[in-house]
Order: sequence, then structure tokens, then C-alpha cells
Amino acid sequence: MAKILVIDDEEIIRERLKSLLTLDEYEVCVAEDGPKGLEVFQSESPQVVLLDIKMPGMDGIEVLQRLKKSAPDTEVIIITGHGGIETAIQALREGAFDYVNKPIEYDELVLSLKRALERRQLREQLSQHVKDLERANQELRHKQAQLIQAEKMAAIGTLAAGVAHEINNPLTAITMNTAFLLEALKGDESKFKKLRIIEKQADRAVEIVKGLLTFSRKGSESKKILSDIHQIIEDALKPVEHQMALGNIKLAREFGSDLPALLVNPNQIQQVFLNIITNARDAMLDGGQLTIKTRRFSLPLEGGGLGGGDFTPSRIDPSPPPLPQGERAFREVVAGGVVVEFSDTGQGIPAEELSKIFDPFYTTKKPGQGTGLGLYISYEIIKSHNGEIVVKSEVGKGATFTITLPAHI
Ligand SMILES: Nc1ncnc2c1ncn2[C@@H]1O[C@H](COP(=O)(O)OP(=O)(O)OP(=O)(O)O)[C@@H](O)[C@H]1O
Ligand SMILES: [Mg+2]
Repeated sequence: MAKILVIDDEEIIRERLKSLLTLDEYEVCVAEDGPKGLEVFQSESPQVVLLDIKMPGMDGIEVLQRLKKSAPDTEVIIITGHGGIETAIQALREGAFDYVNKPIEYDELVLSLKRALERRQLREQLSQHVKDLERANQELRHKQAQLIQAEKMAAIGTLAAGVAHEINNPLTAITMNTAFLLEALKGDESKFKKLRIIEKQADRAVEIVKGLLTFSRKGSESKKILSDIHQIIEDALKPVEHQMALGNIKLAREFGSDLPALLVNPNQIQQVFLNIITNARDAMLDGGQLTIKTRRFSLPLEGGGLGGGDFTPSRIDPSPPPLPQGERAFREVVAGGVVVEFSDTGQGIPAEELSKIFDPFYTTKKPGQGTGLGLYISYEIIKSHNGEIVVKSEVGKGATFTITLPAHI
């Protein structure tokens, strides 16, 4: 039922309009002057206002201006006195929808009222369409960004795996021959030491190559078993927990209850967590806090907008998310899953670097301290679990890595 507010100082007009409009099944509220009218308007939010122009105190034009300022979508029909054509024109300029003359022709008024309501409805529909379009546009931009990033990661992955593969053979020759020479040079301390250095560096290269080849090899499908995500987190924390305490890094666990078991390769997921934890530790050299949160998510999910300053190799988005983006990706695929969030209070990551941290060999660590493969491998592992990994960070405000894993694949 449409709600109408009648603002008129003449009681007889107010009451007549009220009873006639009520009979026509409008909901009617009334006010006897401008200030009162504005008050009733605030509390009742009518769709249309019938407004007398000539009133003592605040006149109709001023009321109109104030109404339009606070609620531009309100339709106002002006009631003008005899010969009030000039004020009527002024009112139309100020945004009134229409005007009717006194003495009021009721049929004419109802006609105008109907048109005003129609216009309001159309406007509402239009704004809904605009919103829908904006949302569709945003989704489209996501998808484009997602495609570009997925292609980039695939291209980089192929290149990296190709290079790694080519390096594998010479490396095997180096390590095998080094081992042979080490045996042969056991008596010669100085040569033996130099050879040890070669061996150590070659082993490091072997590790890097192994990391790069993990996902390119066909048939190396990982073994997935039903696992408890909290157990995996604890296993990942074990090797670093003590060290973090020594470095003044507080650890906060905010684990959700009732999480579903996940069908994952626990060793791989542990590797992902360990890398994220060590990255956080390395970003908090002066101490800080690492908070690990877990929660389950079930579908269907509420919520819309995506990602402020977020980056995921499969999705970049400019606006803030009420939900980790991964959850949306699974919407049509699975019944739900688990969200694990690692938030540190470290130095953070500059916006322009966010899109690079998942690339292989991207590192800001000193030579020898990081290969830059940690997040690349993490990304590949999470992808192979049909999950998503998203980062959100601001310089000086720490970083949050959110991993979403579906419960069933
Ligand atoms: N929590 C974090 N805070 C700030 N910077 C981070 C964080 N996590 C990752 N980074 C940045 O991303 C880069 C890449 O991380 P990634 O784990 O891939 O490699 P790495 O840690 O440098 O080396 P590796 O993991 O191979 O030992 C890091 O060098 C760092 O600059
Ligand atoms: Mg790392």
C-alpha cells in the first residue's frame, strides 16, 4: 500500500484528502505545517508528499527544497492557491513532480498521484538494474583478471618446469661426480673442503629443481586422505613454534569447532602452512603476532563484494570482501569446506608487489635465505586441491593469507 503525506495548514483540506485517499486504499499521514511535515516525513518515509505552497512560517518551497535534499527520490505534488502559477513553476524547477490547483479536483489529484507512484517505481527498478549491471560488470572484471592470472601462472609454470627439467640432467652429473671425487679426495683437506662447497650448492640446486618439478610431472598425483586441518596446522607449527617464541612472536589460535575432515594430502598442506608461517616469521623480525583462524563454511553463502587490495593468482579484485574469495568459487561445486587464515603484524607487502609474490623465484630475502619458491609451490598445491589462496596486505599493517579448501573434491 502506497504511503502519502499531506502537508497543509488548512485542517479541512487535510481531513478531506485523508478520508478520500484512505477510501482509495492509500495509507495517509498528515501534518499542519512545514517543520511538522519534515518530522513526519522522517518517521513515516512516505513515497509521495502532497504539499501546500502557502503556509505560515516555513513555506512549501522551502519544505520542498529540504525534502529533495534529504530524500531526492521522493515525489512531491504541489498544491497551489488561485493564481499561483509562478510558484508552481518554481516548485517544478525545484524538483516537484506536478502541481494541482486549489480548489482541488480530486480525480485530477489521484491521476497525478498514480503517475508519481509509477515514476517512483520505475526509478527504483532502474536503480536496481543499474546495481545488477554494476555487479555483473564487476564479476566480468574478476573473470578477466582471473583468466589473465591463470594464463600467466600456467605460462610461468611451463617455463619454470622446462628449465628445471633441462637443468636436472647436468645437475645429476654434477652431484654424482662430486660424490665420486669426494671419495677420491678424502686425504686432501683443502680440495675436499672446496668440493664440499660444490656439493652443498649442487644439493641446493637439486632441491629447487625438485620443487619446480613437483607439479609438472604427470602421474605424480598426490595421495589424499581424510585429514584434520587443526592437526596439520599443529604439525606445521612444530618446527618453528619455539623459534618464534624466542623471536618475540606471539601465536594466537582461533580455531573453529566442528570443522569437517578434509580429503587432502596432509604433507603438502603442511608444507603450504609451514611456508606461510615462516614467511610471517621473517616479516616480523622485531616480534609481533601471528593469528591462525579456522572456520567452516557451508553453502549457499550470503554476501557479495570482493576483495580490497587482495591478490590471488587466480583472482584480483579492487573492492573489499566480506568473504574470502575462494568461498564464492566453490559455490556451485561443493557443499562447503574450511577457511584457514594466517594474519601477521609484520612489515606487510606493497600493493605493487602483491601480484608478484606467487611467481616462482620472486623473493625479497637475501641471497641464500629464500628461493622465492615457497608461495609458488603453495599456490600449486592449493590449486591441485581445488582450493584458493588469497593474500591481503598493506605496508606496515601486516599480511593475511587466506586459504580455502573444499570439503569434497
Ligand atoms: N607474511 C608476509 N609478509 C611480508 N612479505 C611476505 C609475506 N609472505 C611473503 N612475503 C613476500 O613474498 C616473497 C615470496 O615468498 P615465498 O614464500 O614465495 O618465497 P621466500 O619466502 O622469499 O623464499 P622460500 O619460501 O622459497 O624460502 C617473500 O620474499 C616476501 O617478500
Ligand atoms: Mg617462503
